[in-house]
Amino acid sequence: MKRTKIFADANLTIGTIDPHLFGSFIEHLGRAVYEGIYEPGHPTADENGFRRDVIDLIRELRVPLVRYPGGNFLSGYNWRDGIGPRESRPVRLDLAWFSTETNEFGTDEFMKWCRIAGVEPMMAVNMGTGSVLDAARLVEYCNHAGGTTISDLRHENGAQEPYGVKYWCIGNEMDGPWQIGHLSAEEYGRKALEAAKVMRWSNGEMDGGNTNDRLRLIVSGSSNHEMETFPEWDRIVLENTYEAVDFLSMHRYYMYSAARPRPLEDFLGSADDMAEFIGTIRATIEYVRAKLRSDKRVRISFDEWNIWTVTAPRKEPIWKRAPHLLEDVYTFQDALVFAGLMNTLLNNCDIVRLACLAQLVNVIAPIMTQKGGGTFRQTSFFPFAYLSNNASGECVRTISDTDTFPALVVPKRGSENAPNRARIINEAITHDRTKREVCVSLLNYGQEANEVTLELRSFGSLSAKEYVEMTSGDLFAVNSFECERIVPHAKELPVLKDGSSCTLSLPPMSWSFLKFSY
Ligand code: AHR
Repeated sequence: MKRTKIFADANLTIGTIDPHLFGSFIEHLGRAVYEGIYEPGHPTADENGFRRDVIDLIRELRVPLVRYPGGNFLSGYNWRDGIGPRESRPVRLDLAWFSTETNEFGTDEFMKWCRIAGVEPMMAVNMGTGSVLDAARLVEYCNHAGGTTISDLRHENGAQEPYGVKYWCIGNEMDGPWQIGHLSAEEYGRKALEAAKVMRWSNGEMDGGNTNDRLRLIVSGSSNHEMETFPEWDRIVLENTYEAVDFLSMHRYYMYSAARPRPLEDFLGSADDMAEFIGTIRATIEYVRAKLRSDKRVRISFDEWNIWTVTAPRKEPIWKRAPHLLEDVYTFQDALVFAGLMNTLLNNCDIVRLACLAQLVNVIAPIMTQKGGGTFRQTSFFPFAYLSNNASGECVRTISDTDTFPALVVPKRGSENAPNRARIINEAITHDRTKREVCVSLLNYGQEANEVTLELRSFGSLSAKEYVEMTSGDLFAVNSFECERIVPHAKELPVLKDGSSCTLSLPPMSWSFLKFSY
């Protein structure tokens, strides 16, 4: 059997875990909104048409924040189409997803849904076809108390109190030629700076004043690290906007499918690949900070991440409301890669202060629904739920002697002759000093069982409280409306030697989660 040692010390912290690391995303795309979170007439729907069965699952996932309304949809969206009396809202072509948008659900419905679901809204303003003024007016609509035409419109639409939205994305994937109104880095950088300035002013922020209710602004970074413009895009955009914004966004989907075969090892190396990507963006932010002689720390908002199984490109538009789009059904193997991505986010929590699992319901999502029917939890649901419910406090550094395997980490940098390597045993260890708990998320990406010894120093005398494992003989096993086959199973709790060390036997291709208290 293979053996691995992992060492961690309570005094060696990476950073504090911001709960916003467990955010998610709902876009007007496919059945995410319609038949996902909103389905009037569904047996569980409340008086607003919000599906309560879906809200219950979102609570189980413990998502603190949800980004809205897009995504690519954003760049063709006029937010005014989605407010006011429903019968007078226009029906539009959605040119991002080639479907039809009825606008039955818009900003006010989203805000109400967030309140009922117990999540914080994270809004995005259109920088593709939208103007700086449209962006500012949306801030005014959401956050200004009243006495202006735009804020009084919100009152008329049923919301007396301002929504107080704090987190705002300035556009979406503006580096992508697929984006409606795609811009160059220089054009976008200039426009984003002006948008940031006027959005803040609309929020009542004077230069240097009013820090409490400050907007947290997120400028669009590279859509992924395979873009030709990466990382110049990020440098240029940041050089234009550094002092005006709080976050640079990152997006990345990891793909594995029969339609686009690639070596399994490359897919299993995704967690290390994501770490490389974050490392480059971290360096780019530091470079710009040094160049501008700034004291300010811009952070990363990893506001789209997930596994995305590439499906054959569509040949024709589906001009209808809520078509079945991007309804990936995740395999057990996907869940393993997914859990590794979560470990990477945790291990970079000093700079990644916000992240959004893309997406939340039906569209590349952990929750699936049937129109008029039930729901099921995808394989990926479980690592997310365990970590969002438990991984709080600080993330600590780990030292591991794990073996590695050849994987094409960071595709453009590696080559087939000299592949990079990824870790077989991948871990994240968190420490909550208030709850007096230590949590461990462990992956074995190897084809053999691995005996892992955890040496957890300076935490106090630990005892195991929970130990679950996800494993399956079938890497392609999936969950469905009929049966949730792939779920974590409870294991016998390990006994710790001297309150600090234990040895676990990790099956090949498995994810394990442990909780200790002291
Ligand atoms: O989440 C699906 C899509 O992926 C989003 O609309 C876009 O931002 C990204 O390319």
